[in-house]
Amino acid sequence: MTGYSVEEYVSDIRAIVAEESETKAITDRIKPLALKLASDPSWFEDKYRYTDPDQGVGLHLLHEEENHDLAVFAIAWAPGRGVDAHNHKTWAVVSGIEGQEHEINYNRRDDGSKPGFADLVATKEETLYPGTAVCCLPDDIHSVRNNGDKVAVSLHTYGRHLNHTGRSTFDVDAKTETPLILKIEE
Ligand SMILES: [Fe+2]
Repeated sequence: MTGYSVEEYVSDIRAIVAEESETKAITDRIKPLALKLASDPSWFEDKYRYTDPDQGVGLHLLHEEENHDLAVFAIAWAPGRGVDAHNHKTWAVVSGIEGQEHEINYNRRDDGSKPGFADLVATKEETLYPGTAVCCLPDDIHSVRNNGDKVAVSLHTYGRHLNHTGRSTFDVDAKTETPLILKIEE
């Protein structure tokens, strides 16, 4: 097969992670590779556009190391669907493949010392399209919603599979932080 494959992408990331210790350096180096893979049609399959009718999302695992590091997904959102504010507790790089996703980034105003409490303020909004990518550090908080009129698909690369990072979801209005126990099917 010609083009850039998921296997080559994973191999390139393994080399980057071995060379870099700072998460920002890791995501900065992965970003152009994520853009390259997201724009390459050679690996993409129609099934990656599937979204669960109830949840409005399709999580399609493309790669995960045996120890749960380096998880790569194609994630599809139905129009109008998305995910509330959350962190990842691992680095992340997201690159658009099809459609559009609107992202809101939040800063935390409290110091995190009060269990279950989080005071968030929206700081930046941007829409992710094919040909664009965003990077998240482990404690970055964002929400994502498909604000287009067709299914949106994007390439998500995480330092560790999200079932194994101990991440949180946030209710911005109620100012709460809750462990995100909704598991991704493996
Ligand atoms: Fe996210």
